[in-house]
Amino acid sequence: MTTPTTAPILLFDSGVGGLSVLAPIRTRLPARPVVYAADNAGFPYGTKTEAEIAARVPALLGRLVERYRPALVVIACNTASTIALHSVRAALDVPVVGTVPAIKPAAALSVTRVIGVLGTAATVRQPYVDRLAAEFAADCTVVRHGSARLVELAEAKLRGEATDPADYARELGGLLDAPHGDRIDTVVLACTHFPLLAAELAAAAPRPLMFVDGGEGIAHRVAYLLSNTVAASAAPAGPRAVFNPPGAGEAVDRAVFTRADRAVDALRPALHSFGLDAIEFL
Ligand code: DGL
Repeated sequence: MTTPTTAPILLFDSGVGGLSVLAPIRTRLPARPVVYAADNAGFPYGTKTEAEIAARVPALLGRLVERYRPALVVIACNTASTIALHSVRAALDVPVVGTVPAIKPAAALSVTRVIGVLGTAATVRQPYVDRLAAEFAADCTVVRHGSARLVELAEAKLRGEATDPADYARELGGLLDAPHGDRIDTVVLACTHFPLLAAELAAAAPRPLMFVDGGEGIAHRVAYLLSNTVAASAAPAGPRAVFNPPGAGEAVDRAVFTRADRAVDALRPALHSFGLDAIEFL
C-alpha cells in the first residue's frame, strides 16, 4: 500500500512503552513513516506529580512537532494522556490521539464484573479513570494498582536483560491481593509498557486472566483520522504534507530520545525489531 503523503506519525512515550502501540499501527498502516519519540531524560513518568507531567509534556511535544512536522501525534503513554491530553491538544495544530485505560473493552469481556486496572501510580489515581469507570463499567467493581517496577522491567527486557519471574508475580499480586482482587477476571494493562510484558504476566498469573490494552483501538482511530486527512489533502498539499526531516532527503522511520546515554545503545536490537534503525537525539 502506498500513501499519498509522507508526513509521519509521531508516537510519544517516556520510554519504550509506546512500541506496544506502534506494533498495531504498523499492521494497519505499513507504508506510513514513523517517528518514535522517547523522553528518556524525563523517565519515568509514573512516579511524577501531575504538575511535573503537565509542565513537561506539552512543551516537549511542541518541539517535536516543530521538528518532525507529523501528520498526527499519538501520545502512546497513559500517564501523559490522562494528565495532559487536553493541554497538548490545545497547544498543537495537528490531530492528537491519546491512550487511555481500556476499561470499556474490559467491561465488555468481564464475566465476574470485577476488573483490574494495572497502570502507573500517576495513572491509576487520575479522575479520568474514575470517569471511564463510571461511564463504561458502572456495574463493575474496578480495582486499581500502580506499579513502577513493571515499567522498569519492560525497559530491562527490551535492553535484552534477563528479568526475574518472581517480580511479575509480586507486581500482579499487588492487584490480585487487593480488596475484591480475588474476583478479578480481566486486567486492563493501563500503561503502554505492560503489553510488552504480556507473556511474563500471563505466566506469572495464579489463574487464567484476560489482559486488555488499548493498542488496537488506537491504531483503528489513527487509520481513520489519516484516511480523512488523505481525502482532505487530495487538493494542493498543505505545509505539513511533506516529511522532510533534518538531515535526511527521504522519509525514514526513526527513534528520537531526549538524552543520549548507554541504555539507548542497548535498545538498538529491540528498536530494530520494530523497524526503527535511525536513532537521533532532541
Ligand atoms: N508508558 C507510560 C504509560 O503508559 C509511562 C511509564 C513511565 O514512565 O512511568 O503510562
